[in-house]
Amino acid sequence: MDKIHSLRGMNDLIGQKVDKDNISDRIFFTEKILRNLFENYCLSEIRTPALEEENLFKRSVGDSSDIVNKELYSFLDKNEKRITLRPEGTAGVIRSIIEKKIDGDAHRLWYLGPMWRYERPQKGRYRQFYQAGIEILGYEEGLAELEMISLICSINKQLEIQNSVIKINHLGNNEYKNLFCKELVSYLKPFSSKLDKKDLERLDRNPLRILDSKNSETQNILKEAPKISDHLPQESLDLLDLIRDTFSNDCNIEIDHKLVRGLDYYTDTAFEFQTNEDKRQNAILAGGRYDKLISLISTRDIPGIGWAAGVERLMSLINIENQKEENFKVLFAVQNEKYLLKSEILKQIYELDCIHEIKINKNIKKIFTYADKNNFNFILLIGEEEDSKNKIILKNLNTKEQKIFNQSDIKIVNEIR
Ligand code: HAM
Repeated sequence: MDKIHSLRGMNDLIGQKVDKDNISDRIFFTEKILRNLFENYCLSEIRTPALEEENLFKRSVGDSSDIVNKELYSFLDKNEKRITLRPEGTAGVIRSIIEKKIDGDAHRLWYLGPMWRYERPQKGRYRQFYQAGIEILGYEEGLAELEMISLICSINKQLEIQNSVIKINHLGNNEYKNLFCKELVSYLKPFSSKLDKKDLERLDRNPLRILDSKNSETQNILKEAPKISDHLPQESLDLLDLIRDTFSNDCNIEIDHKLVRGLDYYTDTAFEFQTNEDKRQNAILAGGRYDKLISLISTRDIPGIGWAAGVERLMSLINIENQKEENFKVLFAVQNEKYLLKSEILKQIYELDCIHEIKINKNIKKIFTYADKNNFNFILLIGEEEDSKNKIILKNLNTKEQKIFNQSDIKIVNEIR
């Protein structure tokens, strides 16, 4: 009788306390840390099916991506319908929100589950792998970007990942991205005979990915090529500076105008969290903004941003000694978003090892009602008056004690006990 083997690139992750790689502890702690962080950032879990209509991925991830072009596990079901084992989580999450007609335009979700891509398997690259991801819908550019990167910094810190870097870039909006692609193609066309097969294919299908080419001759040609940053609006460049400056003391973060993404749906901000530990599979986590994705698969038009991490890649880097405890719930409320973006408090909030939420509402009474209803222990408040005097109010909602601090003096972690 023929022996039955597991499929190539598909692994059994068997949890055995005594195995030398501590697989079961690694799975447990990695997922515990991620779940804990997701909860702290007020994200809710979503589980979507592993199987979806093939068209969902064609219309979202895009016909020009390697994922859709070469790597889909697609087949006809018994009803002759083309279905696909999901290669990533974003498309299914969006499909679900649209289909269920879930009220409102603001959604904050996380997921963790297996994905499938028919890739050439090697260390760190599998045909079945797990992704943990977040998708935040309904947020324009600004605060959501800071949240994305802050979460990555927290993961970096808690898993104690060495030799890592967060790279950020701005691809411009949809129109800008398309114009830039045309400009890049006209520059590269005369060099066609010098491009290798892969880059030539990309020139037709997905020219932005050529910026990412590993071929040294292509990289030479690109030295004189138009750069995506050449005509970016000042506000996009400012946003990149703001993100970098906000986190530069906490993690290794850099602006990289060559960073592009392999999926078609990205526009505007894009980012990748990389390690130098494994040269070939160095992307631990990747994501960006996809403001036009929802309109590609529905009649709605909601901005979105998110990222996904490869759980196997994270697991291999984790320091399993590291554990954390849950404690308080803290609400940071402001009457105007401007107070947030210039405030040092925001970073202190993000770093709190407890559940924290940020709320923007002109109506202070509503903020307090919300805090009461949702069992917050502390509220930090910057209203119009406090902002003008650089003050901040801290109220203990259990004891009703209230204190006022200078924004530059407060050490929140010392006050919420
Ligand atoms: P992605 O860059 O295709 O993005 O994948 C995200 C992460 O999944 C990668 O950085 C890597 O760690 C892991 N990964 C991808 N392929 C494999 C593989 N074959 N084996 C092991 N790990 C792998 C996305 O999937 C987007 N949906 C991310 C996103 C969410 N963007 C916005 N929201």
